[in-house]
Amino acid sequence: MCGIVGYVGHRQAAEVILDGLKRLEYRGYDSAGLVISDSERVLNVMKRAGKLKVLSDAFRTQPLTGTLGLGHTRWATHGKPNDINAHPHLSEDGKLAVIHNGIIENYLPLRARLSAEGHTFASETDTEVLVHLIEAHYQGDLVAAVQAALREVHGAYAIVVSHADHELIVAARATSPLVIGLGQGENFVASDVPALLPYTREVIFLRDGDMALLAKDGVTVTDFGGVVLRRDSAIIDWDAEAAEKGGYPHYMLKEIFEQPVVLQNTLGGRLAANGTDVTLELSLDPASFNRVVITAAGTAYYSGLVGEYLIEKLARLPVEVEVASEFRYREPVIDSRTLVVVVSQSGETIDTLEALREAKRQGAHTLAILNAKGSSISREADDVLYIHAGPEIGVASTKAYMAMLAAFELLAIWLGRARGTLSAALAAELIAELRHTPALVEAALKAREQVAAIAEAFKGKSDYLFLGRGVNFPTALEGALKLKEISYIHAEAYATGEMKHGPIALIDDDMPVVAIATASALYDKTVSNIQEVRARDGIVIALASEGDEAIKAHADYVITAPRTMELISPMVNVVPLQLLAYETAARLGLDVDQPRNLAKSVTVE
Ligand code: F6R
Repeated sequence: MCGIVGYVGHRQAAEVILDGLKRLEYRGYDSAGLVISDSERVLNVMKRAGKLKVLSDAFRTQPLTGTLGLGHTRWATHGKPNDINAHPHLSEDGKLAVIHNGIIENYLPLRARLSAEGHTFASETDTEVLVHLIEAHYQGDLVAAVQAALREVHGAYAIVVSHADHELIVAARATSPLVIGLGQGENFVASDVPALLPYTREVIFLRDGDMALLAKDGVTVTDFGGVVLRRDSAIIDWDAEAAEKGGYPHYMLKEIFEQPVVLQNTLGGRLAANGTDVTLELSLDPASFNRVVITAAGTAYYSGLVGEYLIEKLARLPVEVEVASEFRYREPVIDSRTLVVVVSQSGETIDTLEALREAKRQGAHTLAILNAKGSSISREADDVLYIHAGPEIGVASTKAYMAMLAAFELLAIWLGRARGTLSAALAAELIAELRHTPALVEAALKAREQVAAIAEAFKGKSDYLFLGRGVNFPTALEGALKLKEISYIHAEAYATGEMKHGPIALIDDDMPVVAIATASALYDKTVSNIQEVRARDGIVIALASEGDEAIKAHADYVITAPRTMELISPMVNVVPLQLLAYETAARLGLDVDQPRNLAKSVTVE
């Protein structure tokens, strides 16, 4: 949430910063700004409400030169997205600049105190208290002033600071992510890796309580008290191209189409040659717990609901799934016999991170299903199962969801085999089908034309209902979430059998109902529920398995999905629903990759 880029070196800082911010724009896009220190050591600022493009266009007409600078894309928390509230914020003498991601929780008393001391505030942001606080402590030593200011603030934040009199960037992290990029005669700081990929692969992930001092010739990491810390660098294996659109009009579409390859990467090397087992490098002992709790947010939470179904079925362990923002405040009943699984693409979602911390405090063994290496969750979980989805830039998650589903398939089979609840025969069948999933998902992508016709027909609707049952109830939830997020069409999802207990009152001849009716043990019951919709003049869009001719008699539109085992089907069935959301939003001319009000990687509560 909020993109930060800082640069010190030999290049034109603004070029690096604008390029980096472009790659981080998924983190926030309601306003943007940058500050560049010029050859006279004057800080020049440019800030604009709106998308980064507004800032870039302004920059082209009035370039700022200099080899040290900071930039920011904002996702507003305190204060409307306008030019004044955009970052960076500068001190009254114009010599100190601060950029911030996160929330300074005690900003109100600090603002009152600083105002009483004579400081004049220009913006409504919590960030600006940092500027005045650092300024109040500054006596020629920037690092000491930042340290003193940080002793007075609390909250979850990442900041970068520069001062006209120093060729230095000071960065500090308390929960919100920051990564340092190491170069030759140049160094970088950013809130996420994609900003650094064109320049360097060698990075240091800052930890909570770390400060970094970046000069062009080196980087020093200390704690907030100035004690030097050893932080090893890591080499990032994502290539810059993976974070580009590669000819697709939107990242989201590219990421939907990448899913077959993503599955190869998630499953790769984990399906044992014997055909009946999976290999996971986990330290957890499957015999040591009697319960599983899965917690996550949004799309990752829905993958957990599929995980619940799979683990209960294959490993016969009781599973509960809860959204992380609820879990952490609920005094959950967990102990050392509970396996707590957190799921996250970014590894930085604050609700999920705090849920993990709560689980650890209660003595549970924690396993993280994660995409981003080096993320906060990766460092704090007892075990990590990486999904290897590569960089996901579209704000609406697609390929990471697919990879999370694959990870839950692996985990459930692994647990089932280790606990003796999954027969070799069923394991072999599942594993053979998993090997086939890249091809199945490739085939599912072919539904794009059918889906496009439906999107065209219903793009003007204001409501949609999604129905699914069993392992595909979460698929319905995810389909509805995707549609709401990017097309702003209200969409609800219900378990198909639950429809008659209330939502059926909504059915009329105006609202499309997407019913997942692929091959399953409850297919006949699903068809009966569809008939209940039709009997009330509802518009039925059925998602059915290839070769199901009978469904045509019950549906106004049919989307065909490749036939597969029911336990694997969520991976196949979600694809047309992702495409339906995409095709609808694209037809409405909406900003698919950066939908309004959203940001990827939600690092505030
Ligand atoms: C939906 C979406 C969000 C995220 C959620 C968790 O398309 O992207 O609902 O799934 O914010 O994010 P991570 O997985 O990064 O923890």
